[in-house]
Amino acid sequence: MSDPLLSVDGIDSGYGETKVLRDLSLSVDRGDVVSLVGRNGAGKTTTLRSIMGIVTPTAGSVTYRGEDVTTLPATETVKRGISLVPEERRIFPELTVMENLEIADHGGGTEADSLSIAEALETFENLRERTDNAGSSLSGGEQQMLAIARALVGGADLVLLDEPTEGLAPYIVQDLMDVVRELNEQGITVLLVEQNVHVCLELADRNYVIDQGEIVYEGTSDDLADNDEVLDRYLGVSV
Ligand SMILES: Nc1ncnc2c1ncn2[C@@H]1O[C@H](COP(=O)(O)OP(=O)(O)OP(=O)(O)O)[C@@H](O)[C@H]1O
Ligand SMILES: [Mg+2]
Repeated sequence: MSDPLLSVDGIDSGYGETKVLRDLSLSVDRGDVVSLVGRNGAGKTTTLRSIMGIVTPTAGSVTYRGEDVTTLPATETVKRGISLVPEERRIFPELTVMENLEIADHGGGTEADSLSIAEALETFENLRERTDNAGSSLSGGEQQMLAIARALVGGADLVLLDEPTEGLAPYIVQDLMDVVRELNEQGITVLLVEQNVHVCLELADRNYVIDQGEIVYEGTSDDLADNDEVLDRYLGVSV
């Protein structure tokens, strides 16, 4: 068995005096879609920030491609091929779609293969007709697509998606899931954070359920879909 692409081992992490994550472990194999699903305030975003190095864990380790990246700042983890698409979908609203992509395209400064802008526009067809439109004129779903496209143009082989479907209309959620699937087929590994377990069950190879800063369940989508107790207790849904 080969080593996982990303391995988080027993991290504690938080903000100053506030401890949020306790002894949290997860791993992501190359080529997989792995979900981290949990309620509001469970610690999902803090987990992604700890992987990126926006927040530094106080215990445990984060290993990427066999390298200990626990204490590296985000500027360094990005260079190694990890990219975070945050909840706020950071795009530049005053710039056009093309300009947003051009800024992300910093000329192969990372260890990951980056998509060319032309390749990105192949995948994100709804951006193709809008390259001259301002970022601010895009719908929520299109802004999400642009934020993901920016991560790929910048060169990422592991993309961390923080609640990509939040606030999107159901038919846009479908489009977004299609895009994630397509990218995954092209070799991009995905760690998907969601509150919407249905999205996880459709996309993920494996799922981690997080509650109050701890992983309380790990399983395949088939197993999680059958686990009424976990779904009800931690996610408040019946599938
Ligand atoms: N900058 C911060 N300073 C102090 N506490 C924070 C900070 N950011 C988050 N927290 C706290 O950490 C806990 C976990 O927050 P986090 O944002 O990781 O949760 P989440 O699972 O992403 O939630 P959501 O689904 O609402 O995005 C919460 O109790 C939150 O109040
Ligand atoms: Mg969050």
